[in-house]
Amino acid sequence: MSSIKSLLKIQDLSKEDVSAIFNSATEFKKNRQNPTRFPLKAQSWGLIFSKSSTRTRVSFEVAVRELGGAPMFLNAQDIQLGRGEPIKDTARVLGRMIHGAIIRTYAQTDVLDFAKYSQIPTVNALTDEEHPCQILTDIFTFEEKRGSIKGKTVAFIGDAACNVPRSWVFAAELLGFHLHLAAPKGYQSTVQNSHTQFFTSPQEAAKGAHLLYTDVWVSMGMESEAAVREKAFQGYQLNHELLKLASPEALVMHCLPAYRGKEITEALLEERSQEIFDQAENRLHLQKGILDWIVS
Ligand code: CP
Ligand code: NVA
Repeated sequence: MSSIKSLLKIQDLSKEDVSAIFNSATEFKKNRQNPTRFPLKAQSWGLIFSKSSTRTRVSFEVAVRELGGAPMFLNAQDIQLGRGEPIKDTARVLGRMIHGAIIRTYAQTDVLDFAKYSQIPTVNALTDEEHPCQILTDIFTFEEKRGSIKGKTVAFIGDAACNVPRSWVFAAELLGFHLHLAAPKGYQSTVQNSHTQFFTSPQEAAKGAHLLYTDVWVSMGMESEAAVREKAFQGYQLNHELLKLASPEALVMHCLPAYRGKEITEALLEERSQEIFDQAENRLHLQKGILDWIVS
């Protein structure tokens, strides 16, 4: 077993790890204007991205820089990886040059292989299976506004089979909250545990929820299915009617980017823009928490 820390999936984290990440994120958020610690001082971190990104890319680039390190963005298409160099060779080269890697790609096995062959700390910045940094931010944001998520109910409405809800499933077990997943037949989660409940009715799933959450109907890599999916997901939308069924204190979140009129209405997104963009801002603070935890 290597002692090098990585964040490859939620299932690798303990409750203590999550607390350490949240505490560190809180500290860096509070001290952003007057930072006192630079845990990545003199380090170079590579961001290797095979898919588009605004929030994850910018938050990690800024986080690495503000923690004293130098970020290097590598579009996977621009390096030899894009011409077919195997991930294990790329990993062994970069592992001898940089101090850590943040990877956004398709196959989960690619981030696992990169970590294994590079022997440097590796962060999963989204794969087809998981988006751990996003879910940590979401829970951090919930807890900032409402206190502990333990025992609360999160309702996810939409494509329950994609990366974001999959990470929610594992987080529910780890942190002891209830997760309702509402999706049409064929788009239910393929992972499950005693903390998750599947619904086909968004209304049933939203009842009494403390957090209503959604993600795009068409994830990156699924573009060829767009027309079929838009038909299948009709009705699986966050809107004011659904919000009425949730707890009166319910928060509304979206990992973004949002497609108004599809998975969320323009009216609900704008009405709840404060919490949704607080959530987006927290990506930056959380990335710092993750990086600090990884190198500590
Ligand atoms: N939520 C999220 O990961 O956004 P980006 O795709 O812009 O990074
Ligand atoms: N499920 C979405 C998340 C985007 C942040 C996707 O994979 O495209």
